[in-house]
Amino acid sequence: MGGKYLSQWLLLMLICSCLVSLSSCRRPARLLSSSSMGSLNVKAVNLGGWLVTEGWIFPSLFDGIVNKDMLDGTQIQLKSVTQQMYLSAETGGGTIIVANRTSASGWETFKLWRINESTFNFRVFNWQFVGLSSDGNQVVATAASPGKTETFQIVRNLTASRVRIRAPNGSFLQAKTAVSVTADYTEESTSWGDDDPSVFEMTMVGQLQGEFQITNGYGTEAATPILRNHWSTYIVEDDFRFIANNGLNAVRIPVGWWIASDPNPPKPFVGGSLQALDNAFTWAEKYNLGVIVDLHAAPGSQNGYEHSASRDGSQEWGTTDENIAQTINVIDFLASSSFYGFDKQQSFSNCRYAKRSGLLAIELINEPLAPKATLDSLKKYYQAGYNVVRKYTSNAYVIMSNRLSASSTELLQFASGFQKSVLDVHYYNLFSSEFTTMTVQQNIDYVNNNRSTDISTVSIANGPLVFVGKS
Ligand SMILES: *[C@@H]1O[C@H](CO)[C@@H](O)[C@H](O)[C@H]1NC(C)=O
Ligand SMILES: *[C@@H]1O[C@H](CO)[C@@H](O)[C@H](O)[C@H]1NC(C)=O
Ligand SMILES: *[C@@H]1O[C@H](CO)[C@@H](O)[C@H](O)[C@H]1NC(C)=O
Ligand SMILES: *[C@@H]1O[C@H](CO)[C@@H](O)[C@H](O)[C@H]1NC(C)=O
Ligand SMILES: *[C@@H]1O[C@H](CO)[C@@H](O)[C@H](O)[C@H]1NC(C)=O
Repeated sequence: MGGKYLSQWLLLMLICSCLVSLSSCRRPARLLSSSSMGSLNVKAVNLGGWLVTEGWIFPSLFDGIVNKDMLDGTQIQLKSVTQQMYLSAETGGGTIIVANRTSASGWETFKLWRINESTFNFRVFNWQFVGLSSDGNQVVATAASPGKTETFQIVRNLTASRVRIRAPNGSFLQAKTAVSVTADYTEESTSWGDDDPSVFEMTMVGQLQGEFQITNGYGTEAATPILRNHWSTYIVEDDFRFIANNGLNAVRIPVGWWIASDPNPPKPFVGGSLQALDNAFTWAEKYNLGVIVDLHAAPGSQNGYEHSASRDGSQEWGTTDENIAQTINVIDFLASSSFYGFDKQQSFSNCRYAKRSGLLAIELINEPLAPKATLDSLKKYYQAGYNVVRKYTSNAYVIMSNRLSASSTELLQFASGFQKSVLDVHYYNLFSSEFTTMTVQQNIDYVNNNRSTDISTVSIANGPLVFVGKS
Protein backbone atom coordinates (compact mmCIF):
# COMPACT_ATOMS: atom_id res chain seq x y z
CA MET A 1 0.00 0.00 0.00
CA GLY A 2 1.57 3.24 -1.13
CA GLY A 3 1.48 6.38 0.94
CA LYS A 4 -0.93 7.94 -1.50
CA TYR A 5 -3.47 5.24 -0.96
CA LEU A 6 -3.01 5.16 2.74
CA SER A 7 -3.65 8.86 3.00
CA GLN A 8 -6.49 8.70 0.52
CA TRP A 9 -7.96 5.90 2.53
CA LEU A 10 -7.62 7.76 5.80
CA LEU A 11 -9.19 10.74 4.15
CA LEU A 12 -12.08 8.63 3.01
CA MET A 13 -12.55 7.19 6.44
CA LEU A 14 -12.36 10.52 8.14
CA ILE A 15 -14.33 12.69 5.86
CA CYS A 16 -16.86 10.25 4.73
CA SER A 17 -16.99 8.92 8.22
CA CYS A 18 -18.93 6.00 7.07
CA LEU A 19 -18.63 2.63 8.50
CA VAL A 20 -21.84 1.46 7.08
CA SER A 21 -23.76 -1.55 8.09
CA LEU A 22 -26.67 -3.42 6.74
CA SER A 23 -27.78 -5.67 9.46
CA SER A 24 -30.60 -7.90 10.35
CA CYS A 25 -32.92 -6.01 12.56
CA ARG A 26 -32.98 -8.82 15.05
CA ARG A 27 -29.26 -8.91 15.38
CA PRO A 28 -28.15 -5.45 16.34
CA ALA A 29 -25.22 -6.79 18.28
CA ARG A 30 -23.83 -8.30 15.12
CA LEU A 31 -23.82 -4.96 13.42
CA LEU A 32 -20.26 -4.91 12.24
CA SER A 33 -19.58 -8.60 12.27
CA SER A 34 -19.40 -10.91 9.32
CA SER A 35 -22.36 -12.27 7.56
CA SER A 36 -24.31 -15.21 8.90
CA MET A 37 -27.50 -17.03 8.06
CA GLY A 38 -30.48 -14.76 8.05
CA SER A 39 -28.48 -11.62 8.36
CA LEU A 40 -26.70 -9.56 5.82
CA ASN A 41 -23.73 -7.68 7.10
CA VAL A 42 -22.22 -5.00 5.02
CA LYS A 43 -19.28 -2.87 5.93
CA ALA A 44 -18.81 -0.14 3.42
CA VAL A 45 -17.10 3.13 2.91
CA ASN A 46 -18.85 6.16 1.46
CA LEU A 47 -17.02 7.62 -1.53
CA GLY A 48 -17.99 11.18 -0.69
CA GLY A 49 -16.68 14.14 -2.63
CA TRP A 50 -16.19 12.09 -5.77
CA LEU A 51 -19.17 12.33 -8.14
CA VAL A 52 -21.00 14.96 -6.09
CA THR A 53 -18.81 17.85 -5.03
CA GLU A 54 -18.49 18.76 -1.38
CA GLY A 55 -15.96 21.55 -1.12
CA TRP A 56 -14.67 20.67 2.32
CA ILE A 57 -13.59 17.25 1.11
CA PHE A 58 -11.43 18.56 -1.73
CA PRO A 59 -11.13 22.35 -1.40
CA SER A 60 -8.40 22.85 -4.00
CA LEU A 61 -10.84 21.95 -6.79
CA PHE A 62 -12.19 25.49 -6.42
CA ASP A 63 -8.83 27.22 -6.60
CA GLY A 64 -9.02 28.25 -10.23
CA ILE A 65 -12.31 30.14 -9.91
CA VAL A 66 -12.02 33.92 -10.15
CA ASN A 67 -13.68 35.47 -7.10
CA LYS A 68 -14.02 31.98 -5.68
CA ASP A 69 -15.43 33.37 -2.46
CA MET A 70 -18.43 34.73 -4.37
CA LEU A 71 -20.12 31.59 -5.62
CA ASP A 72 -23.79 30.77 -5.83
CA GLY A 73 -25.34 30.75 -2.41
CA THR A 74 -22.70 32.96 -0.81
CA GLN A 75 -24.42 34.98 1.90
CA ILE A 76 -23.44 38.60 2.20
CA GLN A 77 -24.39 41.48 4.45
CA LEU A 78 -23.98 45.08 3.33
CA LYS A 79 -23.47 47.99 5.67
CA SER A 80 -23.88 51.48 4.30
CA VAL A 81 -20.82 53.48 5.27
CA THR A 82 -22.72 56.78 5.29
CA GLN A 83 -25.69 55.51 7.30
CA GLN A 84 -23.63 53.03 9.37
CA MET A 85 -26.65 50.75 8.95
CA TYR A 86 -27.19 47.40 7.27
CA LEU A 87 -29.28 47.00 4.16
CA SER A 88 -32.37 44.99 4.92
CA ALA A 89 -35.16 43.46 2.91
CA GLU A 90 -38.03 44.95 4.90
CA THR A 91 -40.32 42.17 6.23
CA GLY A 92 -37.88 39.66 4.76
CA GLY A 93 -38.84 40.46 1.18
CA GLY A 94 -41.78 41.50 -0.97
CA THR A 95 -41.29 45.24 -0.51
CA ILE A 96 -38.50 47.82 -0.35
CA ILE A 97 -34.88 47.54 0.66
CA VAL A 98 -34.04 49.82 3.59
CA ALA A 99 -30.81 50.82 5.33
CA ASN A 100 -31.90 51.16 8.91
CA ARG A 101 -30.63 48.12 10.80
CA THR A 102 -27.88 48.40 13.37
CA SER A 103 -27.25 44.65 13.39
CA ALA A 104 -27.62 42.00 10.75
CA SER A 105 -29.39 38.67 10.67
CA GLY A 106 -31.83 36.95 8.27
CA TRP A 107 -33.50 39.93 6.61
CA GLU A 108 -30.12 41.65 6.28
CA THR A 109 -28.55 38.68 4.51
CA PHE A 110 -28.48 38.36 0.72
CA LYS A 111 -27.75 35.15 -1.15
CA LEU A 112 -25.89 35.47 -4.41
CA TRP A 113 -26.74 33.90 -7.71
CA ARG A 114 -23.62 34.12 -9.79
CA ILE A 115 -23.95 35.17 -13.44
CA ASN A 116 -20.22 35.55 -13.85
CA GLU A 117 -17.27 36.59 -11.70
CA SER A 118 -18.59 40.12 -11.18
CA THR A 119 -22.30 39.95 -11.99
CA PHE A 120 -24.91 38.61 -9.61
CA ASN A 121 -28.52 38.41 -8.54
CA PHE A 122 -29.34 38.91 -4.86
CA ARG A 123 -31.90 36.70 -3.17
CA VAL A 124 -33.49 37.78 0.09
CA PHE A 125 -34.80 35.95 3.15
CA ASN A 126 -38.22 35.21 1.63
CA TRP A 127 -36.52 34.14 -1.60
CA GLN A 128 -37.47 37.11 -3.81
CA PHE A 129 -34.79 38.81 -5.88
CA VAL A 130 -33.55 42.35 -5.42
CA GLY A 131 -34.29 44.63 -8.37
CA LEU A 132 -35.44 48.08 -9.34
CA SER A 133 -39.03 49.13 -8.93
CA SER A 134 -40.92 49.48 -12.19
CA ASP A 135 -41.90 53.08 -11.46
CA GLY A 136 -38.48 54.47 -10.72
CA ASN A 137 -35.16 53.80 -9.16
CA GLN A 138 -36.19 52.44 -5.79
CA VAL A 139 -34.46 49.23 -4.83
CA VAL A 140 -36.98 46.53 -3.98
CA ALA A 141 -37.13 42.79 -3.37
CA THR A 142 -40.23 41.70 -5.23
CA ALA A 143 -39.26 39.57 -8.24
CA ALA A 144 -39.98 35.85 -8.09
CA SER A 145 -37.32 35.18 -10.69
CA PRO A 146 -34.37 37.27 -11.79
CA GLY A 147 -34.35 39.23 -15.04
CA LYS A 148 -32.35 42.12 -16.35
CA THR A 149 -33.52 44.56 -13.69
CA GLU A 150 -32.44 42.10 -10.99
CA THR A 151 -28.88 41.81 -12.31
CA PHE A 152 -26.14 43.78 -10.57
CA GLN A 153 -22.42 44.16 -10.91
CA ILE A 154 -20.40 44.08 -7.70
CA VAL A 155 -17.32 46.28 -7.83
CA ARG A 156 -15.02 45.12 -5.08
CA ASN A 157 -12.35 46.85 -3.14
CA LEU A 158 -10.73 43.78 -1.64
CA THR A 159 -8.29 45.57 0.65
CA ALA A 160 -11.06 47.61 2.23
CA SER A 161 -13.69 44.81 2.16
CA ARG A 162 -15.95 47.38 0.55
CA VAL A 163 -18.11 47.19 -2.54
CA ARG A 164 -20.18 49.32 -4.85
CA ILE A 165 -23.13 47.81 -6.62
CA ARG A 166 -23.89 48.84 -10.16
CA ALA A 167 -27.50 48.62 -11.26
CA PRO A 168 -28.45 47.47 -14.75
CA ASN A 169 -28.91 51.08 -15.84
CA GLY A 170 -25.29 51.85 -15.11
CA SER A 171 -25.87 53.82 -11.90
CA PHE A 172 -24.66 52.66 -8.52
CA LEU A 173 -26.96 51.86 -5.63
CA GLN A 174 -26.82 54.36 -2.81
CA ALA A 175 -28.25 54.56 0.67
CA LYS A 176 -29.60 58.09 0.49
CA THR A 177 -31.35 57.87 3.82
CA ALA A 178 -32.18 55.06 6.21
CA VAL A 179 -35.37 54.33 4.32
CA SER A 180 -34.37 55.19 0.77
CA VAL A 181 -32.07 52.93 -1.17
CA THR A 182 -31.97 53.92 -4.82
CA ALA A 183 -30.16 53.11 -8.06
CA ASP A 184 -29.16 56.57 -9.14
CA TYR A 185 -25.64 57.36 -8.02
CA THR A 186 -23.77 58.34 -11.15
CA GLU A 187 -20.32 59.38 -9.91
CA GLU A 188 -17.88 56.83 -11.29
CA SER A 189 -14.89 57.66 -9.13
CA THR A 190 -14.70 57.02 -5.42
CA SER A 191 -12.18 57.17 -2.60
CA TRP A 192 -14.04 54.29 -0.94
CA GLY A 193 -14.35 56.53 2.10
CA ASP A 194 -17.11 56.86 4.70
CA ASP A 195 -18.54 59.87 2.86
CA ASP A 196 -19.65 57.96 -0.24
CA PRO A 197 -23.31 56.78 -0.10
CA SER A 198 -22.62 54.20 -2.84
CA VAL A 199 -20.02 52.39 -0.73
CA PHE A 200 -20.95 49.40 1.44
CA GLU A 201 -18.92 47.23 3.74
CA MET A 202 -19.40 43.65 2.64
CA THR A 203 -19.31 40.80 5.14
CA MET A 204 -19.63 37.18 4.06
CA VAL A 205 -21.52 35.03 6.51
CA GLY A 206 -22.04 31.81 4.62
CA GLN A 207 -20.75 29.88 1.67
CA LEU A 208 -21.70 26.81 -0.30
CA GLN A 209 -19.23 24.65 -2.20
CA GLY A 210 -21.28 22.01 -3.95
CA GLU A 211 -21.68 20.78 -7.50
CA PHE A 212 -23.69 23.82 -8.55
CA GLN A 213 -21.06 26.18 -7.17
CA ILE A 214 -18.09 24.53 -8.80
CA THR A 215 -19.70 24.07 -12.20
CA ASN A 216 -21.28 27.51 -12.36
CA GLY A 217 -18.24 29.10 -10.74
CA TYR A 218 -15.93 27.97 -13.49
CA GLY A 219 -18.65 27.86 -16.10
CA THR A 220 -19.56 24.48 -17.58
CA GLU A 221 -16.89 24.54 -20.24
CA ALA A 222 -13.98 25.31 -17.94
CA ALA A 223 -15.36 23.02 -15.22
CA THR A 224 -15.54 20.03 -17.54
CA PRO A 225 -11.84 19.05 -17.71
CA ILE A 226 -11.37 19.87 -14.02
CA LEU A 227 -14.18 17.59 -12.86
CA ARG A 228 -13.38 14.83 -15.33
CA ASN A 229 -9.81 14.83 -14.11
CA HIS A 230 -11.05 14.66 -10.51
CA TRP A 231 -13.41 11.78 -11.32
CA SER A 232 -10.63 9.76 -12.91
CA THR A 233 -7.96 10.44 -10.29
CA TYR A 234 -9.63 10.89 -6.90
CA ILE A 235 -10.97 7.36 -6.81
CA VAL A 236 -9.15 4.75 -8.87
CA GLU A 237 -9.20 1.00 -9.27
CA ASP A 238 -6.51 0.55 -6.66
CA ASP A 239 -8.77 2.10 -4.04
CA PHE A 240 -11.28 -0.67 -4.67
CA ARG A 241 -8.54 -3.25 -4.29
CA PHE A 242 -7.49 -1.59 -1.06
CA ILE A 243 -11.04 -1.46 0.27
CA ALA A 244 -11.57 -5.13 -0.51
CA ASN A 245 -8.27 -6.10 1.10
CA ASN A 246 -9.08 -4.34 4.31
CA GLY A 247 -12.19 -5.96 5.57
CA LEU A 248 -14.89 -4.00 3.81
CA ASN A 249 -17.30 -5.49 1.33
CA ALA A 250 -19.14 -2.57 -0.21
CA VAL A 251 -18.93 1.04 -1.27
CA ARG A 252 -21.65 3.67 -1.10
CA ILE A 253 -21.42 6.06 -4.02
CA PRO A 254 -23.25 9.39 -3.87
CA VAL A 255 -24.50 10.54 -7.28
CA GLY A 256 -26.41 13.58 -8.49
CA TRP A 257 -29.66 13.66 -10.45
CA TRP A 258 -27.90 15.09 -13.53
CA ILE A 259 -26.12 11.76 -14.05
CA ALA A 260 -29.32 10.53 -15.68
CA SER A 261 -28.89 12.96 -18.58
CA ASP A 262 -25.24 12.23 -19.09
CA PRO A 263 -23.35 13.12 -21.29
CA ASN A 264 -25.32 16.37 -21.69
CA PRO A 265 -26.80 17.35 -18.35
CA PRO A 266 -28.61 20.67 -17.89
CA LYS A 267 -26.34 23.63 -17.28
CA PRO A 268 -24.26 24.24 -15.31
CA PHE A 269 -23.67 20.55 -14.57
CA VAL A 270 -20.91 18.63 -16.30
CA GLY A 271 -21.28 15.32 -18.13
CA GLY A 272 -19.07 12.31 -17.55
CA SER A 273 -19.86 11.16 -14.03
CA LEU A 274 -21.73 8.21 -15.51
CA GLN A 275 -18.53 6.83 -16.99
CA ALA A 276 -16.93 7.07 -13.55
CA LEU A 277 -19.85 5.16 -12.03
CA ASP A 278 -19.56 2.52 -14.76
CA ASN A 279 -15.90 2.15 -13.85
CA ALA A 280 -16.80 1.82 -10.19
CA PHE A 281 -19.07 -1.12 -11.02
CA THR A 282 -16.35 -2.79 -13.06
CA TRP A 283 -13.84 -2.43 -10.24
CA ALA A 284 -16.35 -3.44 -7.56
CA GLU A 285 -17.15 -6.61 -9.47
CA LYS A 286 -13.48 -7.36 -9.96
CA TYR A 287 -12.78 -7.09 -6.24
CA ASN A 288 -16.06 -8.58 -5.14
CA LEU A 289 -17.47 -5.46 -3.54
CA GLY A 290 -21.13 -4.43 -3.52
CA VAL A 291 -22.15 -1.02 -4.80
CA ILE A 292 -24.75 1.09 -3.06
CA VAL A 293 -25.84 3.77 -5.52
CA ASP A 294 -27.00 6.68 -3.42
CA LEU A 295 -29.01 9.52 -4.95
CA HIS A 296 -27.36 12.26 -2.96
CA ALA A 297 -28.61 15.23 -4.91
CA ALA A 298 -32.24 15.16 -6.04
CA PRO A 299 -33.77 17.70 -8.45
CA GLY A 300 -34.50 20.92 -6.61
CA SER A 301 -32.37 19.84 -3.64
CA GLN A 302 -33.95 17.78 -0.88
CA ASN A 303 -32.30 19.63 2.01
CA GLY A 304 -30.74 22.91 0.85
CA TYR A 305 -27.22 21.71 1.59
CA GLU A 306 -24.29 21.91 -0.79
CA HIS A 307 -24.12 18.12 -0.90
CA SER A 308 -27.52 18.02 -2.54
CA ALA A 309 -26.36 20.58 -5.13
CA SER A 310 -28.53 23.40 -3.83
CA ARG A 311 -27.83 26.65 -5.63
CA ASP A 312 -28.47 28.99 -2.77
CA GLY A 313 -29.57 27.01 0.26
CA SER A 314 -33.15 26.72 -0.88
CA GLN A 315 -34.96 23.41 -0.98
CA GLU A 316 -37.58 22.64 -3.60
CA TRP A 317 -37.68 18.86 -3.52
CA GLY A 318 -40.84 17.37 -2.11
CA THR A 319 -42.92 20.43 -2.72
CA THR A 320 -44.31 19.41 -6.12
CA ASP A 321 -45.39 16.19 -7.82
CA GLU A 322 -43.23 17.28 -10.69
CA ASN A 323 -39.91 17.03 -8.91
CA ILE A 324 -40.93 13.72 -7.40
CA ALA A 325 -41.74 12.43 -10.89
CA GLN A 326 -38.45 13.78 -12.18
CA THR A 327 -36.61 11.99 -9.39
CA ILE A 328 -38.37 8.73 -10.22
CA ASN A 329 -37.02 9.08 -13.75
CA VAL A 330 -33.52 9.33 -12.35
CA ILE A 331 -34.00 6.16 -10.32
CA ASP A 332 -35.50 4.48 -13.37
CA PHE A 333 -32.40 5.38 -15.34
CA LEU A 334 -30.02 4.09 -12.67
CA ALA A 335 -31.94 0.89 -12.08
CA SER A 336 -32.80 0.08 -15.68
CA SER A 337 -31.02 -2.70 -17.46
CA SER A 338 -30.77 -1.06 -20.86
CA PHE A 339 -27.64 -0.54 -22.83
CA TYR A 340 -26.59 3.04 -22.96
CA GLY A 341 -23.49 2.61 -25.10
CA PHE A 342 -23.56 3.35 -28.79
CA ASP A 343 -21.29 0.51 -29.72
CA LYS A 344 -23.21 -2.74 -30.28
CA GLN A 345 -20.02 -4.63 -29.54
CA GLN A 346 -19.90 -3.27 -26.05
CA SER A 347 -20.14 -5.91 -23.44
CA PHE A 348 -22.71 -6.45 -20.80
CA SER A 349 -20.62 -4.33 -18.50
CA ASN A 350 -22.13 -1.28 -20.12
CA CYS A 351 -25.56 -2.04 -18.81
CA ARG A 352 -26.98 0.24 -16.20
CA TYR A 353 -27.15 -1.23 -13.16
CA ALA A 354 -29.91 -3.75 -12.39
CA LYS A 355 -28.14 -6.49 -14.30
CA ARG A 356 -24.75 -5.75 -12.85
CA SER A 357 -23.69 -8.31 -10.29
CA GLY A 358 -22.05 -5.50 -8.31
CA LEU A 359 -25.35 -3.77 -7.58
CA LEU A 360 -26.10 -4.26 -3.91
CA ALA A 361 -28.61 -1.48 -3.27
CA ILE A 362 -30.13 1.70 -4.55
CA GLU A 363 -30.67 4.43 -2.01
CA LEU A 364 -33.61 6.46 -3.26
CA ILE A 365 -32.60 9.76 -1.69
CA ASN A 366 -30.13 10.96 0.93
CA GLU A 367 -31.19 13.03 3.92
CA PRO A 368 -34.46 14.62 2.85
CA LEU A 369 -35.33 17.45 5.17
CA ALA A 370 -38.55 18.32 6.93
CA PRO A 371 -40.77 20.23 6.74
CA LYS A 372 -40.60 20.75 2.98
CA ALA A 373 -40.05 17.07 2.39
CA THR A 374 -43.31 16.10 4.05
CA LEU A 375 -43.77 12.60 5.34
CA ASP A 376 -46.56 12.15 2.80
CA SER A 377 -44.50 13.27 -0.17
CA LEU A 378 -41.63 11.11 0.97
CA LYS A 379 -43.79 8.00 1.32
CA LYS A 380 -45.28 8.64 -2.07
CA TYR A 381 -41.80 8.92 -3.53
CA TYR A 382 -40.48 5.85 -1.73
CA GLN A 383 -43.43 3.78 -2.91
CA ALA A 384 -42.92 4.86 -6.52
CA GLY A 385 -39.13 4.60 -6.27
CA TYR A 386 -39.35 1.11 -4.83
CA ASN A 387 -41.67 0.03 -7.64
CA VAL A 388 -39.40 1.40 -10.31
CA VAL A 389 -36.38 -0.46 -8.92
CA ARG A 390 -38.45 -3.66 -8.75
CA LYS A 391 -39.35 -3.30 -12.43
CA TYR A 392 -35.77 -4.31 -13.12
CA THR A 393 -34.54 -6.32 -10.17
CA SER A 394 -35.87 -8.25 -7.24
CA ASN A 395 -32.37 -8.68 -5.81
CA ALA A 396 -31.19 -5.18 -5.10
CA TYR A 397 -31.95 -3.75 -1.70
CA VAL A 398 -33.90 -0.51 -1.73
CA ILE A 399 -32.73 1.96 0.86
CA MET A 400 -35.04 4.57 2.29
CA SER A 401 -33.38 7.38 4.18
CA ASN A 402 -34.88 8.87 7.28
CA ARG A 403 -35.62 12.57 7.22
CA LEU A 404 -33.01 14.68 8.97
CA SER A 405 -34.06 15.88 12.39
CA ALA A 406 -37.23 13.82 12.33
CA SER A 407 -38.11 10.84 14.48
CA SER A 408 -35.93 7.88 13.56
CA THR A 409 -38.96 5.61 13.69
CA GLU A 410 -41.36 7.57 11.51
CA LEU A 411 -40.73 5.36 8.45
CA LEU A 412 -40.34 2.12 10.31
CA GLN A 413 -43.81 0.69 9.75
CA PHE A 414 -43.97 2.02 6.23
CA ALA A 415 -40.63 0.50 5.23
CA SER A 416 -41.65 -2.83 6.73
CA GLY A 417 -44.13 -3.25 3.93
CA PHE A 418 -41.49 -3.85 1.26
CA GLN A 419 -39.35 -6.88 0.47
CA LYS A 420 -35.63 -6.16 0.88
CA SER A 421 -36.16 -2.65 2.07
CA VAL A 422 -33.63 -0.94 4.25
CA LEU A 423 -33.93 2.07 6.50
CA ASP A 424 -30.95 4.44 6.48
CA VAL A 425 -30.31 6.11 9.81
CA HIS A 426 -27.55 8.65 10.23
CA TYR A 427 -25.70 9.00 13.48
CA TYR A 428 -23.14 11.71 13.20
CA ASN A 429 -20.26 11.65 15.62
CA LEU A 430 -19.82 15.31 14.92
CA PHE A 431 -21.73 18.57 15.02
CA SER A 432 -21.81 18.26 18.79
CA SER A 433 -19.16 19.33 21.28
CA GLU A 434 -19.69 16.04 23.09
CA PHE A 435 -17.67 14.32 20.39
CA THR A 436 -14.91 16.85 19.89
CA THR A 437 -13.80 16.42 23.47
CA MET A 438 -13.63 12.63 23.13
CA THR A 439 -10.45 10.83 22.19
CA VAL A 440 -10.36 8.74 19.03
CA GLN A 441 -10.79 5.59 21.10
CA GLN A 442 -13.77 7.09 22.95
CA ASN A 443 -15.37 7.93 19.63
CA ILE A 444 -14.86 4.38 18.43
CA ASP A 445 -16.24 2.99 21.70
CA TYR A 446 -19.25 5.24 21.36
CA VAL A 447 -19.99 3.89 17.90
CA ASN A 448 -19.48 0.30 19.02
CA ASN A 449 -21.36 0.46 22.30
CA ASN A 450 -23.60 3.44 22.77
CA ARG A 451 -25.22 3.40 19.33
CA SER A 452 -26.77 0.02 20.09
CA THR A 453 -29.64 1.72 21.88
CA ASP A 454 -30.31 3.84 18.82
CA ILE A 455 -30.14 0.77 16.61
CA SER A 456 -32.50 -1.20 18.79
CA THR A 457 -35.05 1.61 18.50
CA VAL A 458 -35.29 1.00 14.78
CA SER A 459 -34.99 -2.76 14.93
CA ILE A 460 -38.38 -4.43 14.99
CA ALA A 461 -39.57 -7.90 14.21
CA ASN A 462 -40.26 -8.24 10.48
CA GLY A 463 -39.08 -4.69 10.00
CA PRO A 464 -36.73 -3.37 7.37
CA LEU A 465 -33.00 -3.93 7.56
CA VAL A 466 -31.10 -1.11 9.14
CA PHE A 467 -28.28 0.77 7.50
CA VAL A 468 -26.10 3.26 9.30
CA GLY A 469 -25.25 5.48 6.38
CA LYS A 470 -23.22 8.00 8.32
CA SER A 471 -21.60 7.80 11.67
C1 LIG B 1 -36.91 50.64 8.82
O1 LIG B 1 -37.68 51.34 7.88
C2 LIG B 1 -38.93 50.77 7.58
C3 LIG B 1 -39.57 51.57 6.46
O2 LIG B 1 -39.78 52.89 6.83
C4 LIG B 1 -39.78 50.73 8.82
O3 LIG B 1 -41.03 50.12 8.55
C5 LIG B 1 -39.06 49.94 9.89
O4 LIG B 1 -39.78 49.96 11.10
C6 LIG B 1 -37.67 50.54 10.13
N1 LIG B 1 -36.96 49.64 11.03
C7 LIG B 1 -36.15 50.11 11.97
C8 LIG B 1 -35.47 49.10 12.82
O5 LIG B 1 -35.95 51.30 12.11
C1 LIG C 1 -20.77 39.38 -16.90
O1 LIG C 1 -22.10 39.42 -17.33
C2 LIG C 1 -22.53 40.73 -17.67
C3 LIG C 1 -24.02 40.66 -17.93
O2 LIG C 1 -24.31 39.68 -18.85
C4 LIG C 1 -21.71 41.25 -18.83
O3 LIG C 1 -22.13 42.55 -19.16
C5 LIG C 1 -20.26 41.26 -18.42
O4 LIG C 1 -19.45 41.65 -19.51
C6 LIG C 1 -19.82 39.89 -17.95
N1 LIG C 1 -18.50 40.00 -17.36
C7 LIG C 1 -17.58 39.07 -17.50
C8 LIG C 1 -16.29 39.30 -16.80
O5 LIG C 1 -17.76 38.07 -18.20
C1 LIG D 1 -31.07 54.77 -13.56
O1 LIG D 1 -30.15 55.82 -13.43
C2 LIG D 1 -30.61 57.11 -13.70
C3 LIG D 1 -29.51 58.07 -13.50
O2 LIG D 1 -28.52 57.82 -14.42
C4 LIG D 1 -31.82 57.47 -12.87
O3 LIG D 1 -32.31 58.73 -13.20
C5 LIG D 1 -32.87 56.40 -13.01
O4 LIG D 1 -33.97 56.69 -12.20
C6 LIG D 1 -32.27 55.07 -12.66
N1 LIG D 1 -33.25 54.01 -12.59
C7 LIG D 1 -33.92 53.48 -13.61
C8 LIG D 1 -34.89 52.40 -13.27
O5 LIG D 1 -33.74 53.83 -14.75
C1 LIG E 1 -9.51 50.48 -1.73
O1 LIG E 1 -9.85 51.37 -0.71
C2 LIG E 1 -8.74 52.03 -0.12
C3 LIG E 1 -9.28 52.91 0.96
O2 LIG E 1 -9.79 52.13 2.01
C4 LIG E 1 -7.98 52.81 -1.16
O3 LIG E 1 -6.85 53.38 -0.57
C5 LIG E 1 -7.57 51.90 -2.31
O4 LIG E 1 -6.98 52.65 -3.33
C6 LIG E 1 -8.78 51.19 -2.84
N1 LIG E 1 -8.36 50.20 -3.83
C7 LIG E 1 -8.83 50.19 -5.05
C8 LIG E 1 -8.32 49.10 -5.93
O5 LIG E 1 -9.64 51.00 -5.45
C1 LIG F 1 -21.79 5.20 26.64
O1 LIG F 1 -22.23 4.03 27.29
C2 LIG F 1 -21.52 3.75 28.49
C3 LIG F 1 -21.95 2.39 28.99
O2 LIG F 1 -23.35 2.26 28.96
C4 LIG F 1 -21.83 4.87 29.49
O3 LIG F 1 -21.14 4.65 30.71
C5 LIG F 1 -21.35 6.19 28.89
O4 LIG F 1 -21.69 7.26 29.72
C6 LIG F 1 -21.96 6.41 27.51
N1 LIG F 1 -21.28 7.55 26.92
C7 LIG F 1 -21.92 8.62 26.50
C8 LIG F 1 -21.05 9.71 25.94
O5 LIG F 1 -23.13 8.74 26.50
